[in-house]
Amino acid sequence: MVEHVAEDIADKSPEVFLSLDTEQMGNSRMGNDLIIKLHVLMKSSQIYDQKNVALNQVVQGSLELINHFLKSDDSLALKVIRNSLFINGQRLKVGVDSYIGFKFVLEQLQKKRVGEFQISGTLDEKMLKEFVYHLMNLSDGDEDNAKKLQEDLNELEIKSIKVEPLEIFEEDEFFGGQTDPKEAGKKLFFETIGVIKEVVTGIKKDQFIGARKMKRMVQGAINLMVKDESILLGLTTIKNYDEYTFNHCVNVAIYSLAMGRRLGLSKKSLMELGMTGFLHDMGKSKIPKEILNKIDKLDDDEWRLIKEHPMTGVEMMLKIKQLGEMSPKMVIGVFEHHLNYDLTGYPKLIRKKTLTLFGRIIKIADVYDAMTTPRVYRNKTFRPEQALAIMVQDKNGFDPVLLKVFIGILGIYPIGSLVLLDTKEMGVVYETNPDPQYINRPKVILISQSEGRRKIGPAVDLTEMDGENKSYKRDIAKALDPKKYHVNIVEHFL
Ligand SMILES: [Fe+2]
Ligand SMILES: [Fe+2]
Repeated sequence: MVEHVAEDIADKSPEVFLSLDTEQMGNSRMGNDLIIKLHVLMKSSQIYDQKNVALNQVVQGSLELINHFLKSDDSLALKVIRNSLFINGQRLKVGVDSYIGFKFVLEQLQKKRVGEFQISGTLDEKMLKEFVYHLMNLSDGDEDNAKKLQEDLNELEIKSIKVEPLEIFEEDEFFGGQTDPKEAGKKLFFETIGVIKEVVTGIKKDQFIGARKMKRMVQGAINLMVKDESILLGLTTIKNYDEYTFNHCVNVAIYSLAMGRRLGLSKKSLMELGMTGFLHDMGKSKIPKEILNKIDKLDDDEWRLIKEHPMTGVEMMLKIKQLGEMSPKMVIGVFEHHLNYDLTGYPKLIRKKTLTLFGRIIKIADVYDAMTTPRVYRNKTFRPEQALAIMVQDKNGFDPVLLKVFIGILGIYPIGSLVLLDTKEMGVVYETNPDPQYINRPKVILISQSEGRRKIGPAVDLTEMDGENKSYKRDIAKALDPKKYHVNIVEHFL
């Protein structure tokens, strides 16, 4: 085959070679011109009103060039792959004169999450104008943009332009360009709270938006956990009062994923488990805030409403399921998340059954996070180790094996605990020891007092031995109440 090509080339006269060269050069030149024209057009759309005459010339200029492409290639496709632009499958080699335009077009498409547009058939000035204005008016970072834009174009009966979403490459996006996993964790955590809010609010209005985004968040969380589990577990110490439901859902997903990982679940199952954690309390969005945050005792009707939220969640999920986003495991997990291990709890079951793994996992994560989060209607918040102790004593509430797994993750002095050491130092637990043998020897950030001032750090590992005495340098004496000692736990994880 190779020889054939070589022969073929050898047969060609110098003129043919020359024409091939100029053709290629011509394509690259035309590509660069197109980018320059698009740059001006996109920029102009931000400055001028759509009816402004100054725009006409710019639109005409771009259209001429686009038609030139359509004539020679039948179609024109502009595609973004990572930080490159491809025109009809050929990577654009950027010239000095087109660099600014190239950067602008690339960045705009990336921001708008539009990865490709293909033009074929007939395109007139009006259509091109509509396209550019609609494109530039999309909000930044929304993954449903390509879909929205295509719908807009369909409505305008513009059939010659097809739009595709931006392809996101895991390693680029999951850490948001962050190389520091801790920073990446924070970014992911807060972004996820926003996404859940968006999804739940959307579902309430019977729209399903953000599924892809949510999936990527779970993927990001799994990837980050593989790198360093303690980062996300540390962030669960953020207990936001105002955004309670959304914050709580992120925490539940993180705890659940940590359990799922220990159980060796497949990547696909972990994805589903994380999504279930994110969505488990979705049904609560239909309960009035006054009831959710009521300080006084709830009356019977109000309780009935609260108890409906798992079923409401299921109904909402089934609506989404029609769109192919939900698996039965996830829906059942949401249904079961307030059922106890002995099948008491709610919703009341007509027939006895066994709870699914997802249901049992989410239940543990849910109760732990709820117990350790301050709520308006409850003045008692449990410290991490108190919450775990109460959960262990509740013999009917949780799957005992899974609860052990959970304690293995958080430790008997769970991440986020304030502890007193036998050295009279205080410490905030930030990472558990993966070896069950050292469950009481986590890593802590020291908080010490010297000359009346509080000193934070260094971080120490409680398995560290004292060389001379061959004993541990530090032991945990007991857990302390952070409020009493004015320690803001979250601070140590941000
Ligand atoms: Fe719930
Ligand atoms: Fe919950």
